[in-house]
Amino acid sequence: MDSFEWNKIFGGVLAGLVAVLGVSITSDMMFARHLPEKPGYEVAGAEEAPAAGAAAAEAEKPAAFYLASADVAKGEAVFKKCAACHNVDPGGANGTGPALHGVVGRPIAAAAGFSYSDALSGMKSKNWDWDNLWGWLKSPKAFMAGNKMSFAGITKPEDRAAVIAYLNSKSASPLPLPAAPAEEAPAAEEAAPAAEEAAPVADAAAK
Ligand code: HEC
Repeated sequence: MDSFEWNKIFGGVLAGLVAVLGVSITSDMMFARHLPEKPGYEVAGAEEAPAAGAAAAEAEKPAAFYLASADVAKGEAVFKKCAACHNVDPGGANGTGPALHGVVGRPIAAAAGFSYSDALSGMKSKNWDWDNLWGWLKSPKAFMAGNKMSFAGITKPEDRAAVIAYLNSKSASPLPLPAAPAEEAPAAEEAAPAAEEAAPVADAAAK
């Protein structure tokens, strides 16, 4: 093979590279030109996703958080769902469900003359404290399998807290509502690294 032939081969390879580069540049230009001005979906929608996540996390807050700011008047309205089966007045009679006057803080299954399910009777040693009422009214079935209260539960934590506060007001001696829990978690996390930093100093001192 003489040098002339080598030149032809190199030339061919070079021409090929130039062609590939040309196609690549052209296609880049085409893509650039065809980019839509707005994305096909609403960015606002994408921003809603974390908000929904935050709402879900909010549902996990402890009972005291909602009870601290519970609205008794709203609770009276929510209680309309319960009134078909329950009486909350002083000396009120049992109906389909037991009389509920003064139920907050009283022992479970304690209404005189009401025939409770075995499931609820089995919890007599416990009281209707905030947390038990919270669990019961969120989902009676989940709280105590085999109970006979035909009620699905109250999904919204604000409504649940409101009706509990209303029940509490229907008592000879209403209890003080729990205080909102202090949000101490971040402070505790900050304290942890400080403690770790202190450790080597202590080690050094020991030597
Ligand atoms: C369809 C009728 C019905 C409805 C509606 C109903 N309950 Fe009940 N409830 C019952 C029955 C029946 C029991 C007893 C359950 C058992 O013995 O297992 C009960 C028990 C209870 C108890 C336990 C009482 C105790 O003495 O231990 C509480 C508290 C209670 N209900 C609150 C409520 C509230 C608040 C609502 C409304 C949000 C409600 N219930 C709606 C029928 C009902």
